[in-house]
Amino acid sequence: MTMAMSIAQFTFFSRATSSSFLNRTNARFNRFTFSTPFSTADATCTRKKNGRLPVLSALELGGVKIARDDVVRDDPTNNVPDSIFSKLGMQLHKRNQHPIGILKNAIYEYFDANYSNKFDKFDDLCPLVSVKQNFDDVLVPADHISRSYNDTYYVDSQTVLRCHTSAHQAELLRDGHTHFLVTGDVYRRDSIDSTHYPVFHQMEGFRVFSPKEWEASGLDGTSYAADDLKKCLEGLARHLFGAVEMRWIDAYFPFTNPSFELEIYFQEKWMEVLGCGVTEQEILRNNGQLDSVAWAFGLGLERLAMVLFDIPDIRLFWSNDERFTSQFTKGKMGIKFKPFSKFPPCFKDMSFWINESFTENNLCEVVRGVAGDLAEEVQLIDNFTNKKGMTSHCYRIAYRSMERSLTDEEINELQRKVREQVETKLNVELR
Ligand code: PHE
Repeated sequence: MTMAMSIAQFTFFSRATSSSFLNRTNARFNRFTFSTPFSTADATCTRKKNGRLPVLSALELGGVKIARDDVVRDDPTNNVPDSIFSKLGMQLHKRNQHPIGILKNAIYEYFDANYSNKFDKFDDLCPLVSVKQNFDDVLVPADHISRSYNDTYYVDSQTVLRCHTSAHQAELLRDGHTHFLVTGDVYRRDSIDSTHYPVFHQMEGFRVFSPKEWEASGLDGTSYAADDLKKCLEGLARHLFGAVEMRWIDAYFPFTNPSFELEIYFQEKWMEVLGCGVTEQEILRNNGQLDSVAWAFGLGLERLAMVLFDIPDIRLFWSNDERFTSQFTKGKMGIKFKPFSKFPPCFKDMSFWINESFTENNLCEVVRGVAGDLAEEVQLIDNFTNKKGMTSHCYRIAYRSMERSLTDEEINELQRKVREQVETKLNVELR
């Protein structure tokens, strides 16, 4: 994973040549793909009546209580670790003094001012959704890589932690909403570096047009919606970034056609800002909008906030250190983060013979499970296959705290545990 302003946590299904979700999960390594039965049952946020005793930790999400047991299970169809469960109730996007919340509010402001409060806002929808909501409802093909166990957190074979806010499009349409913004935490299994974290935040925008809105224009519905979408998002980018250079790139998403990505020129680089497009008719038809057209967009809030607030590492968003949290003010977009100090990283290498089911995402899950946010980067530095056909990987793990110096003993102990778990959980042979 290169640093090249990698916004993989950003667009989901776009073309494989960009730093997109697809690209991020390219076949660099052997990949174990989990095939899931694609049920049509909707998941709800209710506690399952499975006879389990309630456990100590329970969260309130979207007004519903969720126990650890509802999310983390010792079952082969479950791949949610405790470290992810602990993020479920954090709601960074609902904190008005946090960069993610400040950015959300600035985007709300733009929509309220330009569309006289017409957009309904949702920021409390439950992140536990059905496979149907997350994938089928937005026409993600049955064999799409994003459905794999390697890329998505499955609670059970029919329930996932949403991997994009598009998971809510269909239900909101069915409920009769025609203009809406959905903000929420989304979850993707991923590698480890300064711009990737398995939980991040997205905002989805959606607008439906009725025939009389485009008929007078002389354009067909699709062109009318595409023009409107581009104007709306160019205005949003100017609202956030000021007078910037922008360009539109053709893209691919299963749920929109045509599809685009917006790039802006920032600090001498073209940077992908969002994915969007004209909604597939099938989605509208399936959800009660027969003669309409619509547009949709999805943007990654961390990605934008890192640039707008000068935040160098994605882990900082999760820091409770006052030296981070106290630097931001409700309603203020112009603030630039001042790094409080930089502690040295410590590098540890480990080599092992991989097996068929080995994936880098699985390795990263083990590393995060042991080291949490002390893991800064996991990088493949050597890869070879011997005459017998056995493949060896050497990974370099960078440990660094954002908040303090780590001791040698502490790091050695982390590395010892990582080695132990890599061996037992991933079933590889250490070298
Ligand atoms: N869901 C897409 C993603 O996660 C973004 C998107 C939303 C694209 C809506 C088009 C329309 O990358």
